[in-house]
Amino acid sequence: MCGIIGYVGTGNTADILMRSLKLLEYRGYDSSGVAFCSGKSMEVFKCPDRVSVLEDLVKGHGENAKSGIGHTRWATHGSVSFKNSHPHQAGKVTLVHNGIIENYKELIQTYHIENRLLSTGDSEVAAVLLDEHYKGDPYAAISETVELLQGTYALVMMFSDRPDEIYAIRKVSPIVVSEQENGKLLASDLNALSTVCREYFVLPEKTILKMSLSELSLKDLSGKDIKPEYEQMDFGFEDLDKKGHPFYMEKEIAEEGTALRRCLASYAADGLPSFEDEGLDHGFFCRHKHIVICACGTSYHAGLLSKRIFEKYAGISTEVYLSSEFIYERPLMEEDSVLVVISQSGETIDTLEALRCGRKEGKESLAIVNVKGSSIAREADHVLYMEAGPEIAVASTKAYTCQLAILYLLAFAFAKETKQDGEDIAKLIEEMRKAPDLIEAVYEERETYHDLAKRLKDQKSVFMIGRSLDYYILMEAALKMKEISYIHCEAYASGELKHGPIALIEKDTPVIACLSQKDLLAKESSNIKEVRARGAKVFCFIKESIRKDFVQKVEVFALKDLPDDLMVFSAIPVFQLLAYYLAIEKGVSVDKPRNLAKVVTVE
Ligand code: G6P
Repeated sequence: MCGIIGYVGTGNTADILMRSLKLLEYRGYDSSGVAFCSGKSMEVFKCPDRVSVLEDLVKGHGENAKSGIGHTRWATHGSVSFKNSHPHQAGKVTLVHNGIIENYKELIQTYHIENRLLSTGDSEVAAVLLDEHYKGDPYAAISETVELLQGTYALVMMFSDRPDEIYAIRKVSPIVVSEQENGKLLASDLNALSTVCREYFVLPEKTILKMSLSELSLKDLSGKDIKPEYEQMDFGFEDLDKKGHPFYMEKEIAEEGTALRRCLASYAADGLPSFEDEGLDHGFFCRHKHIVICACGTSYHAGLLSKRIFEKYAGISTEVYLSSEFIYERPLMEEDSVLVVISQSGETIDTLEALRCGRKEGKESLAIVNVKGSSIAREADHVLYMEAGPEIAVASTKAYTCQLAILYLLAFAFAKETKQDGEDIAKLIEEMRKAPDLIEAVYEERETYHDLAKRLKDQKSVFMIGRSLDYYILMEAALKMKEISYIHCEAYASGELKHGPIALIEKDTPVIACLSQKDLLAKESSNIKEVRARGAKVFCFIKESIRKDFVQKVEVFALKDLPDDLMVFSAIPVFQLLAYYLAIEKGVSVDKPRNLAKVVTVE
């Protein structure tokens, strides 16, 4: 959450900062701001609005500046307002911050700095304390200040008496850095660097970075020089282009088939799961008898569904936790448990904390991550990359499909290495290989879901019902609908309806039923009758091959055929498209829904 940037160089600083901020905006868009250093003067522009609004304010400024910093905010402490927007200034210090300084109230009292604060948040406290400690030596001031801070931070700072020098330090919240011909750029994530660089390094925690026109150096808090460890970027700006699609979300649904193909090609060789290159050998699969999964949001939904697959195919007991609850539940993890964390961004703080918690207890960990080099990827014992390509829209789509593919293949690998001869597994993987084409065919039929969206757009509330795997598919479908169309939508296990939720059904209440499992036809049909009897308007999404056996007079949409256990791959794009078109029809912000952010780095 929150995106921060800093640039020093001879390029057009204003352009570079604005372009990078736009690429970081998915991390938060409650306010935006930049500061340019032009000689000895510092110019600050900020607004409680999106980067497109900031762009108008900045026009004609900063082009000749040699350095600048910028911020796009997801509000945590303090309202969405001008005074809470970054950059913050205090005396000689201009600063942007990503993270949460948890003890900011105590610090205000201890250091009696109430009168110096204009904002109501935590970040300005860091700026003021830094200024209080600054006696001309940035290293001393930064070291002394961060010693006082509790919580997480990525701080980027400029000092008015040190023109064109930028300093940065971080704890947990990420900062990546690149050097190019015309300057040096730092940012919260690689997307912002993708326009300009092929090589980058991750700023190590509690290490002070200095960037100036002539210098790029790292020192730890004792003053020792640290060598940056450069890595190669494996995507470029072209991957972040919308490629003719009106929104990233549509582009990412359109890319879902390709992403899945790439993911399957990475982890299935000769028709069988293959993870040896990632260090998951026979020993790995034999030494673990339990799986504990932690994730948030869409990634959590992928984890929930995979429990069924792990238990059915590999006979390995699997528990799934919301990362944010895992640390309180502190489940008794068996000695031979493996902790699997799933995260598209690789930065979700709750999942990172769950990972750290499991590792502290000595558990082997495996991360399923999309963003290369992210914090979770770096800290886990093993990493499997989703290979989904950059996902920009806040609502996750292609990453979900790839997460699931990896989880299925892992379950099949456990099965193959520990009990089965591999024949059934090979058949299922062969079937999985059909999924990308089917997903693309669903996308081609998108107008069907657009039409349905036109009819549902004015609904205040939609119910979703399904059993077994369908219930998990619908949990994800309901999340998509809530987060981007703002329609209240809940998924219920159909068997639970009669224990409460059915009380909410009245005449014309829209109910979406998912029926992708052949064996559940009779039971689910009864549940559909139950809600119809109370006046519900039912839309039934049913597996094509069982459609003929479903004889109720409700509106029916066919889901493309795969074996029952794989039906999620053909069903989920349907619900993603429905949510997408609902947002389009309601005219709300598709890629940047209100109050949300793509990368959630606050607990
Ligand atoms: C945010 C995003 C969701 C995402 C969740 C978990 O809430 O808006 O789309 O599913 O974070 O993110 P992760 O990057 O850990 O998968």
